[in-house]
Amino acid sequence: MTLHTYRAGDDGLPVVLLHGFPLDHRMWDAAAAALPGGRAVHAVDLPGTPGSADDLPEPGLEASADLVAADLRAAGVDRAVVAGLSMGGYVALALAERHPELVAALGLVDTKSTADTDEARANRLRVAAAVEDGRTVEPVRPMATALLGESSRGARAHLVDVLGDWIDEQPPAGVAWSQRAMAARPDRTDVLRAFAGPVQVVVGDEDTITPVEGAKHMVAAAQDAQLVVVARSGHMSALEDPAAVAAALGDLAQRADATTA
Ligand code: MLT
Repeated sequence: MTLHTYRAGDDGLPVVLLHGFPLDHRMWDAAAAALPGGRAVHAVDLPGTPGSADDLPEPGLEASADLVAADLRAAGVDRAVVAGLSMGGYVALALAERHPELVAALGLVDTKSTADTDEARANRLRVAAAVEDGRTVEPVRPMATALLGESSRGARAHLVDVLGDWIDEQPPAGVAWSQRAMAARPDRTDVLRAFAGPVQVVVGDEDTITPVEGAKHMVAAAQDAQLVVVARSGHMSALEDPAAVAAALGDLAQRADATTA
């Protein structure tokens, strides 16, 4: 795994960004650049991404969380604001469960705390087998369009190509690994319920993959959560409206600074 440092800084807690599937840290580039300055901003390339697809452990987001924790500690980060989009949110919750001392605040962006339905799980396993057997990411290529909201497909159509290029660069073995890891994840709503720090739940109002209802479910479960609905954005709100997502995460970081000061 690789930890990318967008920016150094010690004015407040560092922010750690965890990406969605089937992507890598680049989906955070624009939002990271728009985050208010002063504090360190890092992003992690999770297992299965280019450069992180060799020697993969048994598929499981718990392994991803443990590797993130090890990378953060190796970089001298012992407490952070952790924000994850979709699969990154699943990993953030696994991190809060397994390494609570590292997580001062949670940013849950276009994600959910619940497990897959049986149907979704079976579909993931089918896709994993197809990707692996064909040694191609073609089965997940349609996500370049599906991840975006209807408004972005019209007004920001270049994002379809941006996402398509990133998806094409993912190693098939890593894509299969991530699908199996996500299929195996449990419901972590109880982790969210037990989490005492500030939580920011962010969701695009056109997100059809993890829709607004799931975001409201997380807000209701958490002890100290705020909801930010990003207008005219789909499942990739951090890419579709990076300024809005950066503002939401900047607010979260300030809340986290205030509770740890
Ligand atoms: C993602 O964006 O990470 C994926 O849509 C997550 C998922 O397949 O559940």
